[in-house]
Amino acid sequence: MSLRLKVSKVSNESLQNQIFEQVRTMILEETLKAGEPLPSTRMMSEQLGISRNTMTLAYERLEAEGYVDMRKSVGTFVALQVPGVATFTPAGEPPNVDDDGSAPCERIALRSDELKSQALVNASLRRLTADFWPGRPDPNSFPLKMWARLIANCLRSAGAALTEYRDPLGVRELRQAIVDHLRPTRGIMVDAEQVIIVGGSQGGLNLACRLLVTLGSSAFVESPCYQGAAYLFESFGAKLHPVHVDDNGIDVSKLPATQNAICYVTPSHQFPLGVTLSLDRRLELLAWATRTNSYIIEDDYDSDIRYRGAPIAALKALDRCERVIYVGTFSKSMGAGLRIGYVVMPATLFDAARHIKTLTNNGQPWLPQAALADFITNGSYDRHLRRIRHSYQARRETLLAALQKHFGGSTIVGDNAGMHLVWRMPDQLPPANVVEKIALKAGVGVYTLNSGGAVDFGVMRDSDRYLVLGFTAPSEREISIGISRLAAALRSGQSAGKAPRASL
Ligand SMILES: Cc1ncc(COP(=O)(O)O)c(C=O)c1O
Repeated sequence: MSLRLKVSKVSNESLQNQIFEQVRTMILEETLKAGEPLPSTRMMSEQLGISRNTMTLAYERLEAEGYVDMRKSVGTFVALQVPGVATFTPAGEPPNVDDDGSAPCERIALRSDELKSQALVNASLRRLTADFWPGRPDPNSFPLKMWARLIANCLRSAGAALTEYRDPLGVRELRQAIVDHLRPTRGIMVDAEQVIIVGGSQGGLNLACRLLVTLGSSAFVESPCYQGAAYLFESFGAKLHPVHVDDNGIDVSKLPATQNAICYVTPSHQFPLGVTLSLDRRLELLAWATRTNSYIIEDDYDSDIRYRGAPIAALKALDRCERVIYVGTFSKSMGAGLRIGYVVMPATLFDAARHIKTLTNNGQPWLPQAALADFITNGSYDRHLRRIRHSYQARRETLLAALQKHFGGSTIVGDNAGMHLVWRMPDQLPPANVVEKIALKAGVGVYTLNSGGAVDFGVMRDSDRYLVLGFTAPSEREISIGISRLAAALRSGQSAGKAPRASL
């Protein structure tokens, strides 16, 4: 096959850019379909009369941005999951016009290149010997037998629960089970009435945005930040303001006195760096929100997974002025496929939140909520947490031991908690994006901050020295083999300082 590309050697735009833009548009317009092979760089460079290197660089950029997959000795293929493809409006198509012929509102006019979605899985979709993609539970940890029993019980007693609309805020027993869990573990004292069941944290963040974000709103976010939050705020038209994170979490002293803003934080285990927001900064942040009539969105995504000591109480537990929207999820402790999360709303926002939740989806599916409520109330959730903490801690220690064995005294950023860690590589190793590529060739998935689900906003010092390593999905054996292969691949000369070229 060949691609119909036109390039101009006299244009101000580089040849590489021209090719990148044209192929990207074909992918977004779905002229090139997911999984479709692209012609080799040799064929395209001959066809266009340009150097093969230029063509390779264009393909590599397409791969770096998630549009194509380059498979060694096989070829280049359109990625199976392309960022932004569902939201793309082809150039030259008429803009949306409302039924009455009026112009579309500005929100609809957000361009596809202003929209991105967070990376949800290892974009390469390759089978790896060891994949350190962050935040994935051990696939064998899901309590399948117990779940099957609970689902069967719920079905037997479902009555009209599957045929009628239920409370859009969620199954009452689950909301009660959540507040009973949050009280001792996170210090949050609220009633079940203040809890809303949503589709994972992402559903909670969306609800918060619908309540608080309009075009041009200010959103202060951690730098680096979780992609799922940063990209979402942008999709609502918010203006992002990254705020530096250090060893004590987000630097609250840098927050300006902007009124009616939002501030998104991951205080108990900052994503991705893993640091904990110190108590004095928590109090300072709450005072800032009160002073500026702003809201804080606390994303407590993995706080059930700690290995040492009691967790510091949630920010929400300190919230005396109803300024914190607390978002929790079962994606990490149980599994992301459940799509169950929850929000504890400040009383001041609750009525509006109920309307928005109803307008959004009339509620989440009843069956998994009912089963999860039983799972928590019969004590199985606490037992499950004890089991996974034990096994995840062993995997974390195996990873630390393997890093120590192969790379010596390297630095781990953040606390002994959660499902991933951030490794500051020894100085003699090449930059993180080069290591990521070398590792991938050796069948090992390790991730830079940006490819592992974070945005570093291009301002983080030394960001190319860090790799994100999730340690909860691979077994201890896979972890040891993975790190040993990584070390061998880096030793074997591929680490000469330049990115390896995928051969086509
Ligand atoms: C910071 C952060 N928040 C939330 C989530 C979970 O999202 P969800 O509950 O929508 O699956 C993740 C998952 O990786 C995360 O890293």
